[in-house]
Amino acid sequence: MRRITIAIDGFSSCGKSTLARQLAQHLGYTYIDSGAMYRAMALFAMENGLVKDGVLNKEGLLALLDGVDIRFQHDPMTDRSATTLNGRNVEHRIRTLEVSDQVTLVSPVPEVRAKLVRLQQRMGREKGVVMDGRDIGTVVFPDAEVKLYMTARPEVRALRRYHELKAKGAEVTLAEVEANIRRRDLDDTTRAADPLTKAPGAIEIDNSDITAQEQFEVALGHVLDVLARVGQE
Ligand code: DC
Repeated sequence: MRRITIAIDGFSSCGKSTLARQLAQHLGYTYIDSGAMYRAMALFAMENGLVKDGVLNKEGLLALLDGVDIRFQHDPMTDRSATTLNGRNVEHRIRTLEVSDQVTLVSPVPEVRAKLVRLQQRMGREKGVVMDGRDIGTVVFPDAEVKLYMTARPEVRALRRYHELKAKGAEVTLAEVEANIRRRDLDDTTRAADPLTKAPGAIEIDNSDITAQEQFEVALGHVLDVLARVGQE
């Protein structure tokens, strides 16, 4: 059967990765978490002293950009893909609220985006990928056969992310998590370079009041329709 590209965009913490993983597993496709790459870039900036008092030393980051190597590798311990930064597994480090707080310092930088978009396009060259992010259907894969645009009410997303972080033992409050989500929504939709917008032809799914399983069934229905159509071309 012909393999396609599935692009999933949407706000922070609205279940994109859950849906992307479910679809990839069901179809035997590769799941690629583009947000992890921006998170790894933020971690790189933090670890190299390029963020001070909430301000990014952009020139410093640009000078080191060519030496930043971000990849995904299978982690036999978790049997999942892990993000690596210059050969080091940073999967856990990049999921902290500290990194979430700094990521929108690096994500608007056009040179950072150009580098990561190039890598993402290379990863998707062979098709058979499900990639989630903010600009996948608009910039990375504008020709994706399936484009999904996911939303959920901010307070619903904050509660979900709060429970996730608490389950990992993080010391956070619901108010902190909600403030982070609302700030990233604003940053992601208002930045000059590749802001989050609904791609032409994208199907919108609001999952505030549906379960992950219901959402999967809706999305899979769209994917199967497209697969049946392209199979006849
Ligand atoms: O999906 P996430 O929350 O892990 O993404 C982390 C940040 O990276 C998010 O605040 C916006 C940015 N991002 C982006 O600018 N473009 C993408 N394709 C994916 C994420």
